[in-house]
Amino acid sequence: MNAPTAAPLAWRVTPSDHARSAEQRAAILGGELGFGNIFTDHMVAIEWDKARGWHDAQVRGYGPLSLDPAAAVLHYGQEIFEGIKAYRHADGSIWTFRPHANARRMQHSAARLALPQLPESEFVESLRQLIAIDHDWVPWAPETSLYFRPFMIATEAFLGVRAANTVSYLVIASPAGAYFSKGVAPVSIWLSQHYARAARGGTGAAKCGGNYAASLLPQQEARAQGCSQVLFLDPVEEKYLEELGGMNVFLVYKDGRIVTPELSGSILEGVTRSSILQLARDRGLRVEERKVSIDEWRDGVASGDIAEAFACGTAAVVTPIGELKGEGFSIGDINAPAGEVTMAIRKELTDIQYGRVPDRHGWLVKLR
Ligand code: COI
Repeated sequence: MNAPTAAPLAWRVTPSDHARSAEQRAAILGGELGFGNIFTDHMVAIEWDKARGWHDAQVRGYGPLSLDPAAAVLHYGQEIFEGIKAYRHADGSIWTFRPHANARRMQHSAARLALPQLPESEFVESLRQLIAIDHDWVPWAPETSLYFRPFMIATEAFLGVRAANTVSYLVIASPAGAYFSKGVAPVSIWLSQHYARAARGGTGAAKCGGNYAASLLPQQEARAQGCSQVLFLDPVEEKYLEELGGMNVFLVYKDGRIVTPELSGSILEGVTRSSILQLARDRGLRVEERKVSIDEWRDGVASGDIAEAFACGTAAVVTPIGELKGEGFSIGDINAPAGEVTMAIRKELTDIQYGRVPDRHGWLVKLR
């Protein structure tokens, strides 16, 4: 399925005929942004077919897609996506964070879902192209950003079960504030004891819509328990932490260790996760990527050995976990203040992303 384009794609840009005015945009950006509610005026589309590979790269007005009702994505879920942000720096410039890592992860997801691999350079170029026309949608308010949602769908109209021969790669963008409604306040997590997110050999390590579809029912269960995210255990022994509905998880020990579940093959390799591991190492913290059982978390909180827990992801950034609940138990204290290590790591990560401190790892890429 891999059909890298030899020459860089030629881009066709057609400005939207229904773009919002500067006043309308200012009113939208000046309001409560939340997460994933608002979309910019334009989108990217690149087509792929077996014969031509990637072709017809376009920036055009944001709007509905025209899909044949038999399109494979609608029946067999042959779809993958990414999440990556653009940050406004104080001088007005616009930067993104480790886009090559997202591009590579999208290639891995594509391989698992039998989709074609978009070259890394075209992934980054697609973000640049969208920013070139929609840069005014990158908000200025503190801790806001423009969230890109690159995704790839199987468009071939064919009901046989096989990899599609025609595919679209698209990017939409959404000005974003905090993912959780209470901002960076500690959240409650619900341990799902009946559902797994992913199976051994399944698609857990790929960022595909199906994984998230499977998390929705347990996520509803979590909400019914007053929790804002669900935590999944490993699908084999049902004992080890995997990840939350849409983010990775970390525990901070009082002896200075910072621990996160190892990449088991069924969890997503978060770009925020790997950046935090690096920042923690830089601070001299002992970093452990290994199996972490739910008993270890429960006992560690009870004994005081585990001092903090947090969730992380592009959307969630770093969000303290105040409480873990499950059937018949509850640990932690949702009213306790966010942990110091959690907040220090969050600050350092966002300081790099917003250009407030030097980018010593060379993670930022200028988009404009
Ligand atoms: C992200 O953090 O970018 C994600 O894709 C998680 C999503 C469920 C919002």
